[in-house]
Amino acid sequence: MFSNSGKSENPQLNAQMKVLVIDDETNFTDEIEEFLQNQGYISYTANNVQKGRTILKNQDIDLLILDVRLKGVSGLDILKEVKENYPKLEVIIVSAHGDMETVITALRNGAIDYLKKPFRHTDIQIAIQRTRKFIDLHRVIKTMEEKNSLISRTLQEKIKREFIGESHQIKDVLEMALTASKYKDTSVLITGESGTGKENIARIIHYESDRKDNVFCAVNSSAITDSLLESEFFGHKKGSFTGAINDKKGFFEVSDQGTLFLDEIADMPINLQAKILRAIEEKTITRVGETDPVSTDFRIIAATNHDIDQLIEEKKFRLDLLHRLNTIHIHIPPLRERIDDIEPLLRYFVSEFARKLNKPIPQIGKDTIANLKNYPFPGNVRELRNMIERAIILCKGDTLTANDFQTKIQSEPEAQREKVNFNLEENELNLIRLALKEKFYNQNKSAELLGITRDSLIRRMKKFSIQVSKSEKSK
Ligand SMILES: Nc1ncnc2c1ncn2[C@@H]1O[C@H](COP(=O)(O)OP(=O)(O)OP(=O)(O)O)[C@@H](O)[C@H]1O
Ligand SMILES: [Mg+2]
Repeated sequence: MFSNSGKSENPQLNAQMKVLVIDDETNFTDEIEEFLQNQGYISYTANNVQKGRTILKNQDIDLLILDVRLKGVSGLDILKEVKENYPKLEVIIVSAHGDMETVITALRNGAIDYLKKPFRHTDIQIAIQRTRKFIDLHRVIKTMEEKNSLISRTLQEKIKREFIGESHQIKDVLEMALTASKYKDTSVLITGESGTGKENIARIIHYESDRKDNVFCAVNSSAITDSLLESEFFGHKKGSFTGAINDKKGFFEVSDQGTLFLDEIADMPINLQAKILRAIEEKTITRVGETDPVSTDFRIIAATNHDIDQLIEEKKFRLDLLHRLNTIHIHIPPLRERIDDIEPLLRYFVSEFARKLNKPIPQIGKDTIANLKNYPFPGNVRELRNMIERAIILCKGDTLTANDFQTKIQSEPEAQREKVNFNLEENELNLIRLALKEKFYNQNKSAELLGITRDSLIRRMKKFSIQVSKSEKSK
């Protein structure tokens, strides 16, 4: 059948390619098998469809050489079947009856090439060489996919492992997050005070979901200048406004196939809220300066540390958007309401910082734990974490004592500290005042001391109507 036979120039390159031949003529399969082996391929032959199916199932076949006229079945049906079950498998069709109709149908159904029997050695060699490019590409993609999913698996495990908590509240939160992750299109609203771990939970939902191999795009709209908000979210066309020097994808498009985390949604201007609602409902967006909408498949996870009902009452947040967002609502209680988490978090952060700061892991005094359990943590886990970092730096001996945790705030007059059953608001107000005073009314430094973000400090200052006069600032 073949005009000549001979070794491939580079059997090494061919060594790993697996080729299966399905043909009911033993003469043909025997010959082609010899040829394939000489070329350095791993070859399999099947003289009936059933055997072919078994080999396809058990071996990672790269290329199928398929006769279209098999006894009792049409090779074209088999072609359809294998393309459905193994979309990346390449198929070369061979037949003694080369009618054009069969050729066209085979190629339409996904065959990559067609050979008419009898054919010469060079014909099949050329056909395989041509197919090889696609097979190599499939392999590269497969390796990349495996690598990606390995990275995301590692990251996913890391994120879950590093979310600490033993209280029943945090277990409920985690369970809700895992449930949410199973519904990859459902919006989720996460509420909770600043520093309670809202972003961590959002990441867990993403990395546990079918979207995990795609982007997790975290956006805090309060960090974006108002005039740029729309183009940041929806993208823009080059030249659509001064400064639009290139076409640009917005967050909705960037998050295609992934998750868009809208942090602090309450800070979003009301007119943008309407546009965002439409984007969520229609799953399409139109870039600034464009007319044609583009579709994008994202999931929204939104977070806020505000009392959302109050915002709705004040008409600062759209009720229809809230209804869209809170299909699943996860609330993370403040740390002071889940005291059982303090000790595990403490131990976790102590070893984290000891390792990072190259210090031996210190013992933790009993009084330290008791003290922390009585502290209200207005900045929640973030505050605890910062406090521990400072304590590890300050710690001289081999045991962390209450002293190492003494912040200015805690060493204020006894009256402050005795309020274990404190009036929360009053306590928060006092803490903020103290921090501001301590840091000479520098908001960044005060926020840092409190373990909250500057935005959160500003919001709290507004809430308590704390105004800083110029004279105080310059003191
Ligand atoms: N359960 C937890 N286990 C480990 N680390 C946590 C946990 N909860 C929060 N953290 C850590 O505390 C810090 C604050 O968490 P995060 O940024 O998720 O809070 P947030 O609720 O989004 O706060 P904000 O409202 O200020 O944005 C992060 O460093 C985070 O890793
Ligand atoms: Mg956050």
